[in-house]
Amino acid sequence: MPVISFANAKGGAGKTTAALLLATELAHQGHRVTLIDADPQRWISQWHEMSGNVRNISIVTEVTVASLQCHLREMASHTDYFIIDLAGARDALVTTAIGLSDHVMIPVQGSAMDAKGAAQILDLLALMKEKAGLAIAHSVVLTRVTAMVTTRSLVAIKGLLAQRGVNVLNTPIGERTAFRELFEVGGTLHTLDGAKVSNLDKARDNARALADEVKRLMPMRVIRSGIPRVINFGRNAA
Ligand SMILES: Nc1ncnc2c1ncn2[C@@H]1O[C@H](COP(=O)(O)OP(=O)(O)OP(=O)(O)O)[C@@H](O)[C@H]1O
Ligand SMILES: [Mg+2]
Repeated sequence: MPVISFANAKGGAGKTTAALLLATELAHQGHRVTLIDADPQRWISQWHEMSGNVRNISIVTEVTVASLQCHLREMASHTDYFIIDLAGARDALVTTAIGLSDHVMIPVQGSAMDAKGAAQILDLLALMKEKAGLAIAHSVVLTRVTAMVTTRSLVAIKGLLAQRGVNVLNTPIGERTAFRELFEVGGTLHTLDGAKVSNLDKARDNARALADEVKRLMPMRVIRSGIPRVINFGRNAA
């Protein structure tokens, strides 16, 4: 059961939205998803409180550095995908979650500030590889992409990342009202009312394409080898 975390040291990059889209789409496709809310701001937990039970989704809240590994172990036998939503920080919990991940998704908006927050996560991944020999797969996922941003800034970001050998998902996440709406009314893209939310079909297509690409990156045959890893780096390590 792959562990996928969403990280960007800058707040507001689109982590929670991307994590929820992926989780709800995988669940819609019949996979059992455990969504771990590792952000003290509790956006995922609040979404869940609003939504009630969503088929195939389990939520874990109140996560700490000490408890994260236990949650993964406890839920492993009834989870196909773990998805971890992280705070916009580079602290001990972010570092621990990344160390326990099979794949780190780094949402990046088409702005320089976001690229900086993403670079901090890429530096952390490089440090883990260098110091601990932990090579954790990771990809940048472009978010809040509109027709206006598609050209120059996106090409520039992709070029910069390619230079660093960073994978960029082929599926960008568009700027869509439906994605914001999930946090307003709860539920999933499949329970929203198409008469009230514009372009819901396109939003669903986007989520499906995202989930399909992520599944191809992380086939179910991924088997977590050996004992889960916990690594703490840096001043804030607990
Ligand atoms: N694809 C999108 N389409 C429309 N709105 C979006 C999209 N992605 C994010 N947003 C909006 O941008 C804001 C920040 O997004 P989100 O909460 O997902 O970012 P975050 O990286 O999780 O932030 P934080 O670091 O504070 O946890 C929210 O208001 C959200 O509704
Ligand atoms: Mg968030």
